[in-house]
Amino acid sequence: SPLHALLTSMPKCEHHLHLEGTLSCELLFSLAEANTIPLPSGPEFASPAALRARYAAFTSLDDFLAYYYIGFSVLLTASDFEQLTYAYLSRAAHENVRHAEIFFDPQGHTSRGVSVSAIVEGFQAAAKRAAQEFRITALLIPCLLRHLPVADSKACFESLVAAGHFDARKGGEAEPGFAGLGLCSTELSQPPAHWAEIFAAAKSKGIRRTVHAGEEGPARYVAAALADLGAMRIDHGVRAAEDDAVIEKLAEQGVLVTVCPVSNVCLRVAKSVAESPLSVFVDKGVKFSLNSDDPAYFGDHYIQDVYCAVEEAFGFSIEQWAKIVRDAVDGSWCTEERKAVIR
Ligand code: ADE
Ligand code: ZN
Repeated sequence: SPLHALLTSMPKCEHHLHLEGTLSCELLFSLAEANTIPLPSGPEFASPAALRARYAAFTSLDDFLAYYYIGFSVLLTASDFEQLTYAYLSRAAHENVRHAEIFFDPQGHTSRGVSVSAIVEGFQAAAKRAAQEFRITALLIPCLLRHLPVADSKACFESLVAAGHFDARKGGEAEPGFAGLGLCSTELSQPPAHWAEIFAAAKSKGIRRTVHAGEEGPARYVAAALADLGAMRIDHGVRAAEDDAVIEKLAEQGVLVTVCPVSNVCLRVAKSVAESPLSVFVDKGVKFSLNSDDPAYFGDHYIQDVYCAVEEAFGFSIEQWAKIVRDAVDGSWCTEERKAVIR
């Protein structure tokens, strides 16, 4: 489509990208060797190509997550996280992403003896280099994990606060802390209310909040993320379209929904990109951004592919695309100064 070149050139923001979801099969195997981490013995781990073939056959969020957390096991050093972050930021910058807010799952690393400070150190080194080379900015958002006990989430959150990771500035340097707090992993049978106390504590500390909801879970989980957790953004949110009252609430509160239509197809949340309720969002005034989620696990479809797939499925006009891109900048958690530069 002739619009694809325009979509590439537009200044984009990405809000829903898991750092660990950018680990390619090739890098997974090479880090496993470098760090002497044994991989499972199944036939899908015979080679990067075999693993990639298994990724093409995910049947659900939990089927994906099992492989996703095996991927975590090869990530050990600050340098591993630097490599991952730099590769993503350089690719994103080449697709004209100007600002990225990047999720990671602290509990998936600290449980293996990898410290949050090693992750942050690697991330900051890569972000600094990418900012100088490509003028892209990047912030981290830790996500608490719903498949683990709430007490585990609470201990994780408290240790992040105690370490000062959410503080805006450190040592006089203009070095922003985490952009906010997220919640992800298994959704079914994990109602948002279980994390209410932690999210209330985050709110009282002035920490922004975003919640994965309405991916596999019902529309009422999106309503609960807003009401019980004070979510300021909703990640995925596609099943909100099944309940007009929830859609109205998203529109009324001006909440940005970070939609990942290619991810939804890969995890069987939707049969096709065209099934994504973006027309409902447009018609009802729900703001959204378009994102890649875990591109290395979803056919290597980074943000440009996502934009092009949506353009092909929906045929949005140039004016509609301008609004989508503007809403993404406005809904970012960088400074107003930075937003003005991106616009
Ligand atoms: N963690 C990484 N990707 C995720 C997704 N799509 N949903 C929930 N948790 C995730
Ligand atoms: Zn996600």
